[in-house]
Amino acid sequence: MGCASVRKCPPEPRRYSQAIGVPGNRPPSRTRLQRGDLRAAWIEHAAEWIAWARVPGHDSYPTFHRDLFLPLVPAPGRRTLDVGCGEGRLSHDLTQLGHTVIGIDRSPMMVEAARTAYPEIAFEEADAAALSFPDASFDCVVAFMSLQDTEDLDAVIRECGRVLSEGGRLCFAIVHPLNSAGWFEEPTADAAFVIEGSYLNESFYEDSLARDGLTMTFVSKHRPLSSYADALAQAGFLIERIGEPSVPDDAAEGRTRRWQRVPLFWHCRAVKLSIATSPRSSD
Ligand SMILES: C[S@@+](CC[C@H](N)C(=O)[O-])C[C@H]1O[C@@H](n2cnc3c(N)ncnc32)[C@H](O)[C@@H]1O
Repeated sequence: MGCASVRKCPPEPRRYSQAIGVPGNRPPSRTRLQRGDLRAAWIEHAAEWIAWARVPGHDSYPTFHRDLFLPLVPAPGRRTLDVGCGEGRLSHDLTQLGHTVIGIDRSPMMVEAARTAYPEIAFEEADAAALSFPDASFDCVVAFMSLQDTEDLDAVIRECGRVLSEGGRLCFAIVHPLNSAGWFEEPTADAAFVIEGSYLNESFYEDSLARDGLTMTFVSKHRPLSSYADALAQAGFLIERIGEPSVPDDAAEGRTRRWQRVPLFWHCRAVKLSIATSPRSSD
């Protein structure tokens, strides 16, 4: 992935305050990058992530995000694929709800950690852009906070569509594209939200935060909503539901109150149609 498809970046990395997830001891910072190697970043930061995800209070998932996402997921069917499963927490939660889950991730350390923690679940090291599963072999695919961390979004969504049977659902959560395009000028609840450069162009960014002795670095790609909508349409999906979760009242305090005005995440459920459509076709 080069800078050709990337929006015009500022000449030097720029840091600014940005709160993502639950409140922290130190304000998180964001650097807009000239380019990004998302695969290498997630391999490099896998150990940090495993610790971060597993210590209560270090990530929004157990605090509120899981409970906003799970209602999107259909009732258990034949088989559910967890794309970018990380250390396995969502695969585990879906298994507890009755899903038969296979989790895949391209970071070997994530897969190892998932297998160790949840030996009853099948986890495989794989790139979601080139899955080895047969066509129509799942009736549900989930991708929780992994699509903004992948380079080839079109290929990943196409593969999700290929392995889903007709009528199957793809449910995903990403950093909301408004969130990844901008930042708040101040930590106050009524702070102005600013987009520098372009919302419409793609760009790479790094979010870095530290809390109670743990650090975490997220390297991700900003894309406008239309990139996701186009990829879904090209892969034969129809968007069924969307959500724009912010910080709920019971988790909001201090600097996170501003995230009650701007969405943190984008949730989407799409149904696989029988025929792939083109967003450029007239119908
Ligand atoms: C923020 S973590 C989320 C992990 C997990 N879904 C969770 O919420 O706990 C993103 C994960 O997506 C994985 N990932 C990104 N692109 C991928 C791809 N193309 N194929 C497989 N895994 C991918 C990364 O390795 C990383 O483990």
